[in-house]
Amino acid sequence: QSGLYRHSTDQPVACPPRTGNVSGDVRGKPSGYFGVRRMVEGRSENRTRKEIMCALKKQVPLSVMKLGDGPFSGDEWERSFPSKSLEETLGPLRSCAVVTSAGALLNSGLGPEIDSHDAVIRFNSATTTGYSQDVGNKTTIRLVNSKWNKFFRSPDYKTGTLIVWDPAPYSKNLTQWYKKPDFKFFKLYQQYRKLFPEQPFYILGPAFHWNLWDVIQDNSVPNIVPNPPSTGMQGIAVMMNLCEKVSVYEFLPSHRRTSLCHYYEKHHSWSCTVGSYHPMKFEKLLIGRINQGSDEDIAALGKVTLNGLSQEKC
Ligand code: C5P
Repeated sequence: QSGLYRHSTDQPVACPPRTGNVSGDVRGKPSGYFGVRRMVEGRSENRTRKEIMCALKKQVPLSVMKLGDGPFSGDEWERSFPSKSLEETLGPLRSCAVVTSAGALLNSGLGPEIDSHDAVIRFNSATTTGYSQDVGNKTTIRLVNSKWNKFFRSPDYKTGTLIVWDPAPYSKNLTQWYKKPDFKFFKLYQQYRKLFPEQPFYILGPAFHWNLWDVIQDNSVPNIVPNPPSTGMQGIAVMMNLCEKVSVYEFLPSHRRTSLCHYYEKHHSWSCTVGSYHPMKFEKLLIGRINQGSDEDIAALGKVTLNGLSQEKC
């Protein structure tokens, strides 16, 4: 059906090649390692909070891989996937906290405030041990990238629900992704599930990060890097799908901003905060536009307040 699309009347009509400069959803040639096709016309940095929220709601639904999705079938996968859906596992959530791993959380004293939320998401190897005064103790979800192969060793991974993501081709072709994931983590996932069957552990569908990337690019005038959004940005979108209200800590840096990359490590680099591989600067500009909290909350606490997507009537 290439070169054809259907109007609402369902009549097939010829459409211009998807590389032209006609306004509307016209995407350019594949670029970068993942074959990203960015919107070339109609990008804007002036959309309202509501418009951006509705784009997220319509375009970035949360989806995890399940039995029968493309190549994810057969006995091994039947044994591996949790029997409950992510929503069933977590139940309805009112208030949620997203704890980035930024060095600026150090000496914040935000731990009790973070723990007062119904659910807390943390990322990769972010530990709470020794830092609970600043980042809290509660871990409801841990979102990790597929390179994170310390699953088996670290006690930090044993609390809450795990979700893993892996950079897939922009085409979202599951068979291609399955054959050549960015990091070979599928076997590791199955082994982990065998060892710890009681712990819910999901694989995020690749459409999620690319749909999110599309919304970031569509709302940025410059070309953004053709790589998936950061784990933290994906975590914000996960929580916006699951929770009524979302507080995000130190994604938009407070007065404590620092070149310290992570609160739990000694490594310094500003690229952890502004990005190099990920389009982080543009992720942060977008989150700033949908923030419902005050500028004082950002400056003093590094805190952004977002509506959950269920709260938006679109
Ligand atoms: O580095 P890592 O990806 O494990 O950190 C988790 C997330 O926290 C990042 O993906 C990013 O969204 C956020 N972060 C940040 N500023 C930092 C470090 C991390 O915004 N200095």
